Amino acid sequence: MCGIVGYVGPKSTVEVLLGGLKRLEYRGYDSAGVSVINGSGTLETRKRSGKLSVLVDDIEQNPLGVAHIGIGHTRWATHGAPTDGNAHPHLGGAHKKLSLIHNGIIENFAELKSELLEAGVTFTSETDTEVAAHLIAAEYDKTGDLISAFRRVVLRLHGAFTILVMHEDEPDVVLAARRNSPLVVGLGVGENFLGSDVAAFVEHTKRAISVGQDEIVILRSDRVELEDFAGNKVTHPEFQVDWDASAASKGGWSSFMAKEIADQPQAVGDTLMGRVASDGTVHLQELAPLGNAIHSIDRIIMVACGTAAYASEVGKYAIEAWARIPVSVELSHEFRYRDPILTSNTLVVAVSQSGETMDTLMATRYAKEAGAMVLSICNTQGATLAREADAVLYTHAGPEVAVASTKAFTAQITSIYLLALHLANTRSAHSKSELQEIGRELLKLPAQISEVLAGLDPIRELARSYKDAKTVLFLGRNVGFPIALEGALKLKELAYIHSEGFAAGELKHGPIALIEEGQPVIVIVPSVNDPDSLHAKVVSNIQEVLARGAKVIAIAEEGDKAVAQVTDQVCYVPAVHRMLAPILTVIPLQVFAMELSAAKGLDVDQPRNLAKSVTVE
Ligand code: G6P
Repeated sequence: MCGIVGYVGPKSTVEVLLGGLKRLEYRGYDSAGVSVINGSGTLETRKRSGKLSVLVDDIEQNPLGVAHIGIGHTRWATHGAPTDGNAHPHLGGAHKKLSLIHNGIIENFAELKSELLEAGVTFTSETDTEVAAHLIAAEYDKTGDLISAFRRVVLRLHGAFTILVMHEDEPDVVLAARRNSPLVVGLGVGENFLGSDVAAFVEHTKRAISVGQDEIVILRSDRVELEDFAGNKVTHPEFQVDWDASAASKGGWSSFMAKEIADQPQAVGDTLMGRVASDGTVHLQELAPLGNAIHSIDRIIMVACGTAAYASEVGKYAIEAWARIPVSVELSHEFRYRDPILTSNTLVVAVSQSGETMDTLMATRYAKEAGAMVLSICNTQGATLAREADAVLYTHAGPEVAVASTKAFTAQITSIYLLALHLANTRSAHSKSELQEIGRELLKLPAQISEVLAGLDPIRELARSYKDAKTVLFLGRNVGFPIALEGALKLKELAYIHSEGFAAGELKHGPIALIEEGQPVIVIVPSVNDPDSLHAKVVSNIQEVLARGAKVIAIAEEGDKAVAQVTDQVCYVPAVHRMLAPILTVIPLQVFAMELSAAKGLDVDQPRNLAKSVTVE
């Protein structure tokens, strides 16, 4: 939540900052602002409520001065409505020479604000952030030492924060501090960058350093120094960003979401690459840091939020079926605060696209402290979750910019299949050849996804015809159940239509009361060749809702004649191993929600009230 960018170097700073904010806008988009110190040494600040484009237009009409140092912010409001006044940067000091931006929540701001009010400070916003600007400015006025003033104030702040500060009287340096919120440094030649994630600067440099917990960065054009909050020097290894800058652009698509849906064959293919041999054997080198402990895992708890939690739900079926290890999936925030039972034989798998979701981070810290092993499945290099876990299995979906997750979801499920097969190799529930056969099926997925993508026009048309629907229900069984939940989530997020996913077996225990004439129901139909005959049960469920007036759209396997007999609204996907079907069946649901949202004239990439990365609890 909230995107942060900082720059010191020879380029046009306003352009660097706005370019970085454009790539970070997915983190929050209710207001944006920048501060620069111009060629005459004056601090200039511009901030506007609304999307980044409002700020960009404002600056185009009334340009800021040429500058070589600056900070920028895109906001997702926590304290104070999204107004111009509450937008960041916030200025501090009697002469407003200090500029500050913040991501996170300063939990003790009320107490600090009272102290400042008593000292006669005037506030211009309702934010928690402004206290930090005034406190640092006051400390600096006392000593003339910006770094120690910054350090002293940061030590007084409670909660989560990444803070960037610059001061008109120190025109060569940007200071940053990080506690619980993300911060990455980009290393250039004669220029350096700060960003909430690497997307902020990947256009300019691929060399990066992740900043640790409770650390300060002193950023100048020719050097970057890091220290802890006590002032001791620290160092971290540099890493190379493997995202291509063009991967974070729309590349001719109408929206990032449309592009990211189309990226799925590659996202899944890249996630499989190098991990499945051509004979289907899966081996994950990435799990080596867990050592022999992997053999004694007696329980897996997957923690995640949102779409990542539904990917985990799918994964639970695969891990239990193939590795025969009991799995539970928990929402990170519920897990963290309910005193869960953890032992050194528990593997906690934290699934997160961003690797910065605060609830998931808190859950994993808690699990580690309780002595459990933690594996993270993460899409963002250098993310906090990846660094804090005992081992990390990266999804290689590339940058995901649209707020509603699509390619990260299918890449997460793919990674969990790989994890399940790797764990299964260490157990004896299935023969090597059975597991290899599944591995070979995995390798077919990218081509099968492409097939699904090529046949989506009918679902697009259907989506448009449901533009005025007030509520849509989704039904699925087994691995189709989490896909029903994900389909409903996508529709809520993107089209603001009330939607619910149900386990089809639960229908008669309540949800069927919702069915009335014309009620749209989307059903994920299991494979016709399902050995447990769930197919027949789901077809019966379709009959039950049809008999009560529902309009059914079925997502079914090619050649499924039974479904064609009960509804003519069918979207077919290729036949696959029944456990792998979610990777294909979710795609029509992603497109259904996207198309319906577009038909309603809504912003597909940036739905109201949401942020892609939820970095506050
Ligand atoms: C937010 C996003 C969702 C995402 C969830 C978890 O709610 O809007 O799309 O699934 O966070 O994010 P993560 O980065 O942890 O996967």
